[in-house]
Amino acid sequence: MTASDTEGHNSVGRLSREAFDRARRVFIDGTTRVTIERDPIPRYMERGEGAYLVDVDGRRFLDLNGNFTTLIHGHRFEPVVEAVTRQLQSGTCFANPTLAEIDLAELVCDRVPGVETIRFVNTGSEAVMFAIKAARAFTGRSAIAKIEGAYHGAYDWVEVSQASTPDNWGPGHEPAAVPYYRGMPASVLGEVVTLRFNDAELAEALIGTHADRLAAIVLDPMPSRAGLIAPTPDFIAAIQSAARRHGVLIIADEVLSFRQGYEGASARHGLKPDLFTFGKIIGGGMPIGAIAGRREVMSVFDANGKKPALPQGGTFSANPLSMVAGFASMLALDHGAFKHLEMLGDRLRGQLLAAIARHGAPFTVSGVASLFRIHPKPALPRDFREATMSAAETAVMNELSRAYATAGVILPSGAAACLSTPMTTADIDLVASVFDEFLATRADLIESLAA
Ligand SMILES: Cc1ncc(COP(=O)(O)O)c(C=O)c1O
Repeated sequence: MTASDTEGHNSVGRLSREAFDRARRVFIDGTTRVTIERDPIPRYMERGEGAYLVDVDGRRFLDLNGNFTTLIHGHRFEPVVEAVTRQLQSGTCFANPTLAEIDLAELVCDRVPGVETIRFVNTGSEAVMFAIKAARAFTGRSAIAKIEGAYHGAYDWVEVSQASTPDNWGPGHEPAAVPYYRGMPASVLGEVVTLRFNDAELAEALIGTHADRLAAIVLDPMPSRAGLIAPTPDFIAAIQSAARRHGVLIIADEVLSFRQGYEGASARHGLKPDLFTFGKIIGGGMPIGAIAGRREVMSVFDANGKKPALPQGGTFSANPLSMVAGFASMLALDHGAFKHLEMLGDRLRGQLLAAIARHGAPFTVSGVASLFRIHPKPALPRDFREATMSAAETAVMNELSRAYATAGVILPSGAAACLSTPMTTADIDLVASVFDEFLATRADLIESLAA
């Protein structure tokens, strides 16, 4: 890195540094979310403007993070601002249902094949937790199967094997259930079967072996942290046939991947789940989560005149601010909006791959629709193990993120980056040109990948 880089757009400005000094006194690590990127300290944001962010030091960035893929219309989307402003004047939360929750529910139920009924909560983590509990209540079984390296939020059972490493992930034919935090109960580990993404044979075998105790298979059709790799048709078919054969439910975690299309990710990849979880984009930038699916399974929540098999409440669940923001945002996410995002995504992935080919660089790109991930690998990884980065690869990706920051672009490293509807082809061309320039000028660093 040159001296001017440290002083330039890339370096975090004085006001961010001052904010972090204050924050370190009240937060153990200076922030209140482990997912905040810091290099070595985080950049404090002042505001968003469409596809752009402005930090407290007045620097402007193209936002490829979108609050972890939430902001599909970018920042301060006018229909959301109007809907929330109007709702604020009527009240923020009530112990009664509102018409706003019916609007959003109808929209999602009408759009997504397999979603007959829905329930709102406040986060994706909460949605995943209740979907798993619903599967347990429906089947009377307690264990789950999940994909190694896949992120599904903070419920203990899905945290298992979320961050496995080569030291502890075990043999390929028998992936270990790896604890996520010290003291994670052994009983939790004993109730999670770890599958490998796109390994159809292993999935069939493990689901068969553990069938009598499995309530559900939790599957993000394209798990971002496990590589953002598309599922193969034989993997989807294997999961589906094993699940049906053994009476195990399929929970499609679409908290992140719902943005892959008008009908969502399961429809795109041919998966037919019993339950879905949603979050992020369906809240239009406000906190949200949802559990949805087949009426027969969702009946575990039924509290009409009886004690439900699975009681589910929540002080802020279906709060009208999230409902109206989500409705305004989803309503604007019509076929035209998805077509635009698809075009931008294809253009970007095409340009990134062309730059890789031009420079003969050991990189590749995964993703579909408005999602992409750059891998410092010569071939497309097939699963989490292959997508896991070495120390040298991590160092290269950190440098790439710095190069992007210097050019005024925020690129998340090690997870999915995303596009938003206010982006233009000029934004895409900027993202591609920064990558091209990086490959052209950092050959020294990139050579370390071969070592
Ligand atoms: C696939 C998936 N599931 C669940 C979650 C958890 O959602 P939340 O952060 O809203 O709790 C996330 C968050 O990134 C996610 O990507």
